[in-house]
Amino acid sequence: MKIQSQVQLKPFNTLSLDVIASHYVQIQSVDDLVEALNFDQSEHLNVLILSGGSNMLLPKQMNALVMHMDIQGIEYLAEDETSKTLKVGAGQVWHDFVLWTTAQKLYGLQNLALIPGLVGASPVQNIGAYGVEAGEFIQSVEVYDRQLGQFSSIQAQDCEFSYRHSIFKDDPNRYVITHVVFKLLKKADLKINYGDLKTAMGDEITAENLQKQVIHIRQSKLPDPKDFPNVGSFFKNPVITQQDFAELVIRFPNIPHYPQSNDRVKIAAGWLIDQSGWKGKRLEQVGMFDKQALVLVNYANASLDDVQATYRAVQHDVFNKFHILLEPEPVLFNESGLIQSHLG
Ligand code: EPU
Repeated sequence: MKIQSQVQLKPFNTLSLDVIASHYVQIQSVDDLVEALNFDQSEHLNVLILSGGSNMLLPKQMNALVMHMDIQGIEYLAEDETSKTLKVGAGQVWHDFVLWTTAQKLYGLQNLALIPGLVGASPVQNIGAYGVEAGEFIQSVEVYDRQLGQFSSIQAQDCEFSYRHSIFKDDPNRYVITHVVFKLLKKADLKINYGDLKTAMGDEITAENLQKQVIHIRQSKLPDPKDFPNVGSFFKNPVITQQDFAELVIRFPNIPHYPQSNDRVKIAAGWLIDQSGWKGKRLEQVGMFDKQALVLVNYANASLDDVQATYRAVQHDVFNKFHILLEPEPVLFNESGLIQSHLG
């Protein structure tokens, strides 16, 4: 383990922001982590855990210890008649892991193919797509608890998984995720009711084809960060009350919406942004993608300030038209490597 100074993080964040980290270390094992955390204590630096960098907004200069999680490995822990349990290193690439499970005839994660990032980030915001969330297949999460100063295993029911949320998102400085334990099915229970997935699958109702179609749909509307740097959906889909929805739908009868539990309704943020004139529109070098208005793209060497100027303009226009304040999905960090509210 070697701590490096003044390291450029541009290749490690999918929005491709120019970011210099005062201290940077690659963590390839639990031992590396313990050693790096000891360094942190003597220097009084904040620790920032960097995973795939696909859900974060970083400033130009950060005086913090950036720990880049690179713990590899997949280990079988248990097997019963219907499932197999696997422990997976936080540094495994998520999409490669999903492809591997399908090749092993292990089912559940196929709807989540092609989501950028690493396995260790999957529980943090409970990644989800096409009617499935990672939390449904997570049995436990192995962490180093910085508050208690010990390693522990947090069971899924204590992770408080919900839409793009978990305890890890609430308290990001407390836990360092080292491994995620998944319980996957030996026989597929396909979830194909989201959007046009069923039609796309045709007569071939198999997990393999489901994965193939999800990849195809994502590739057709979501930009590859290598070509167009982005962090996936930039805003969460807002969830509003039935009463607010009833007023909205009178003015906008075509609004795509999904009824939730507790008398709430989820609205498609992409549609709100599109209707506000932002699909394919740019402010300087940052804009909303032309095939999916929910994705913000850095078209050329943007800084965090440029990104903020664009997303605030989008929030402003959407609010003016719909009276809904969109909440950004990625986590915003300050110069000390601490999480900051998007409200400033
Ligand atoms: N829409 C528009 N214009 C647009 C984009 C979308 O009118 O530019 C409309 C669509 O026609 C559709 C509705 O909005 O009626 C919803 O769009 P879509 O099905 O493409 O999905 P989404 O709700 O925009 C969510 C997730 C994605 C996930 C897809 C598929 C969030 C914030 N986003 O997007 O997640 O892949 O569903 O499940 O929940 C991510 O989190 O990074 C991400 C890509």
